[in-house]
Amino acid sequence: MRFSEELIEEVRARNDIVDVVAGYVRLQKRGSNHWGLCPFHNEKSPSFSVSGPKQMYYCFGCGAGGNVYTFLMNYENMSFLEAMKALADRAGVQLPEMEDNAQIRQREGKRARLLEVNKEAAKFFYYQLRNPRGAMGYQYLQKRELSDETMHKFGLGYAGKNGADLVQYLRQKGFEDEVIKEAGLASNSERQGLSSQFWNRVMFPIQDINHRVIGFGGRVMGDGTPKYLNSPETPVFDKRRNLYGLNFARTARCGNIILCEGYMDVIAMHQAGFTQAVASLGTAFTPEQANLLHRYTENVLLAYDSDGAGVKAALRGIGILREAGLTGKVINMQPYKDPDEFMKALGKEAFQERIDKAENSFFFEIRILEGQFDMSDPEAKTKFHREIAKKLCEFSEDVERDNYLQAVADKYLIGIENLRKLVNGYAAQTGLAKPVERPRSGVHQKNSPEENAKKSQRLLVTWLTDEPALYGKIRKYISPEDFTDELYRKVAQRLFQGLEADNFQPAGIISMFEDEEEQREVAALFNTNLPQLNTGQEREKAFHDILFAVKKNSYEYYTDKLGSDVNALKQAIEGKKALEELAKTHISLD
Ligand code: CTP
Ligand code: MN
Repeated sequence: MRFSEELIEEVRARNDIVDVVAGYVRLQKRGSNHWGLCPFHNEKSPSFSVSGPKQMYYCFGCGAGGNVYTFLMNYENMSFLEAMKALADRAGVQLPEMEDNAQIRQREGKRARLLEVNKEAAKFFYYQLRNPRGAMGYQYLQKRELSDETMHKFGLGYAGKNGADLVQYLRQKGFEDEVIKEAGLASNSERQGLSSQFWNRVMFPIQDINHRVIGFGGRVMGDGTPKYLNSPETPVFDKRRNLYGLNFARTARCGNIILCEGYMDVIAMHQAGFTQAVASLGTAFTPEQANLLHRYTENVLLAYDSDGAGVKAALRGIGILREAGLTGKVINMQPYKDPDEFMKALGKEAFQERIDKAENSFFFEIRILEGQFDMSDPEAKTKFHREIAKKLCEFSEDVERDNYLQAVADKYLIGIENLRKLVNGYAAQTGLAKPVERPRSGVHQKNSPEENAKKSQRLLVTWLTDEPALYGKIRKYISPEDFTDELYRKVAQRLFQGLEADNFQPAGIISMFEDEEEQREVAALFNTNLPQLNTGQEREKAFHDILFAVKKNSYEYYTDKLGSDVNALKQAIEGKKALEELAKTHISLD
């Protein structure tokens, strides 16, 4: 923790989340919550809720959630410290100097400093391009058919032939050599001393979602190698978690995001009006980037190069998108190599047609597979059909698998019953119906026992938060140890402490967690949809069922651990007793 917990709580409590969020999102009151369009993903009807009583926000569409700190950190891309400062300012709270947190201040200070030096370098490159000495760069970009407006929008620049210029400029602006080096802008060379990493290249500043320059890509103006030189990873440049162009694409709101391979593709697409285009940063597409995209869209269109490497990358990308619970489609660029060339040759209407006709990712995979078999050879053809069957087995949901089975049988003229037999054969062999592991998506794991157990734990937390008075009636049955997920257990500890003391601030609990994913998960715990029931009797039954499910899971969990965990025996005995008692106890909700 950076400031004392009390101070963090004080600042939080003095900034009403409804007021703060209302400064960014149009909210309407409905029931005890305020509702609006989620600023973290693209949607047409409001699933973003802000709760005054809980002092939290939660989006039922994309799962974004947290307290007022989390909101600023996500919306404004602030660090925790920045959010804390902004909110303290807003509420007129004086923050003490933090003597004892020199290290943290240093880290925060360094990040800020790296962002500043990047920004200054971007300015330098920008002016070089528009200076007579940058004519080569400017002509190169013109030859690539970029307009002045586009060059400006993307902040394109030029690094001249003299590597000392940038360093001199940055030093003049007051940056220490250490910072310049750590930003990856320059390195020591024997001949010239500290000298720019980038020279004689056109420069693409890479921005985070809030338009802050976090790194650079530099392209040779012609055929030299390497074609692109990218900034190294730095404390502000995480290549796995950022996407080129997302700072613009996140607000394009056209129902999809187009994922390209290259910077030039993104720029050409934006120039043609497809402002939803993004690209990864000189590295392969990552699961982290897929999760990032999921905040803004459900549909990702792949516009990868049409060569062998591009197809391979697309196949990989499809897998990653699926894992993240996103729908992937593939745009056919033939006969052109990439979106940039396509756009130049056929223009935007033709590209829009290709978007509309984008191929379902499963059929894309099958079509690529088909290319590997000689269909005139019955044996090869059989192998192909077997491969299709294997792929079909990857759909864990029966309905979905069957729909694809029918469609693919139709398309490739395979007898549907024969194909079904093949699929069932594989299913039996591989013990299918066992769903493929899909870690983050949440979509396909809904029914796993662990997920069910966690769901009842979430329901119980939400219910107790909404009706704290119920705690007194169940406190003898329940303890934090009944929460079998580590994160949940931490939350439950705090929750029960607060309920015991009759002073419970759910939003305060979120501040205990520094990791953004954890904050989302905690927010989800307090915002699970409770069953909508009319009669008191139904509500009592539902509550009883949830409590019973939590206890039962806890009992099974500890029984499993007998022998390996010293606490298990005690927990299992208590659990059994509680279950027996609960089975014959009526808990009234009045
Ligand atoms: N890339 C890279 N280093 C290289 C080559 C490529 O980092 N030596 C990355 C860049 O992010 C590049 C992307 O891979 O944008 C795609 O590469 P490529 O298709 O070769 O480049 P384009 O962006 O299409 O650029 P151009 O049209 O100028 O060839
Ligand atoms: Mn290209």
